[in-house]
Amino acid sequence: MIIVTGGAGFIGSNYVHYLLASTNIERIVVLDKLTYAGSLDNIRSPLTNGQIEFIQGDISVEEDVESAIRHCDAVVNFAAESHNDRALLDPSPFIETNVKGAGILAYAAAQNGVKRMVHVSTDEVYGEIREGSFHESLALRPRSTYPAAKAGGEMMILAAVESFGLEACITRGVNNIGPYQHPEKALPLFVTNALLDMPLPIYGTGQQVRDRMHVLDHCSAIQIALERGEPGGLYNVGVDNECTNEYMVDHILQRLNKPKSLKRYIEDRTGHDFRYSVDSTRMRELGWEPQYDLNAALNSSIDWYVKNEWWWREARSEEFENYYKEVYQDRLSQAGQDHTPA
Ligand code: NAD
Ligand code: TYD
Repeated sequence: MIIVTGGAGFIGSNYVHYLLASTNIERIVVLDKLTYAGSLDNIRSPLTNGQIEFIQGDISVEEDVESAIRHCDAVVNFAAESHNDRALLDPSPFIETNVKGAGILAYAAAQNGVKRMVHVSTDEVYGEIREGSFHESLALRPRSTYPAAKAGGEMMILAAVESFGLEACITRGVNNIGPYQHPEKALPLFVTNALLDMPLPIYGTGQQVRDRMHVLDHCSAIQIALERGEPGGLYNVGVDNECTNEYMVDHILQRLNKPKSLKRYIEDRTGHDFRYSVDSTRMRELGWEPQYDLNAALNSSIDWYVKNEWWWREARSEEFENYYKEVYQDRLSQAGQDHTPA
């Protein structure tokens, strides 16, 4: 039996679909608090078909974790507060879930004899890098709340490995794109805004760089780490699909046949990391090979939102619209004209 914590969120739900399609694991249990970012819509068909079980619970609450984790062989932890812009509005849930939750979960896993665990972390724990790539041996220098809390969570996992012999390893993945990503994140926000003929809000100059990994490549890496990762092992997961935010926006507009005049350059995010990049040699040495290049990752992600309007209309809930107003309204009304001609 495997427990997928945060399995109703973006990457966790894709991992559940991946497990069902690619492995013979008999029992899959999703433990998720169902915050604003989690939705049973993301795992609707396996839930309806009885292929998975769902428990609503919080990884930072001992009783929720204890009752779910008994008789469990493996844990993959996706549960987290994951959005940098929300961390600027309120850091508390980030500290609560990403640090305390990781600690409670790791302790319970060790006490209940869990055999294997992967804790899903992020490349953002290293901080930004203008040139070159981060290796796992380098120090962590997170520059804002979300990655700082993720770095804290990693320390809780490593402490349980040392103190209790927990067989857990940690993955540090780059930016994911793909189905079921909450519309607060860059790609689904840009695609759904374009489909609604709304402006696409680009922070600062749009020259920041991210390595865009298709979520299914991340899922296959996590599965390999679960099967073959060393206890206490750290594994960068990157795909060399780097592009600027502006490139991604232009690509989206072109694919959707929408005008460049939808681009808006707005006031930058505070503490916006310019570039992330990781060296994934160690992960590749475990036998991992990503399948999606940049165009394939972008196009299949964009097309999914075009085909699944029911999903993103539901995700762009009242909560989302209130959040959108708070973060974007003033900046959009102050925004200058497009940097490039339409
Ligand atoms: P997400 O925000 O889409 O999903 C998070 C899920 O966790 C939601 O279903 C939410 O309900 C659940 N959750 C939140 N707090 C919880 C709690 N206290 N107890 C139980 N469940 C809780 O996030 P995501 O983008 O799918 O990211 C998943 C993991 O992968 C995170 O740990 C994130 O740090 C990491 N990660 C994300 C990316 C990315 O590009 N999105 C890249 C690398 C690593
Ligand atoms: P995001 O999806 O929030 O991921 P992360 O902050 O973890 O990298 O943002 C990806 C990039 O897109 C990042 O450089 C910030 C930028 N961005 C915008 O320019 N405008 C937006 O409205 C959002 C949400 C992000």
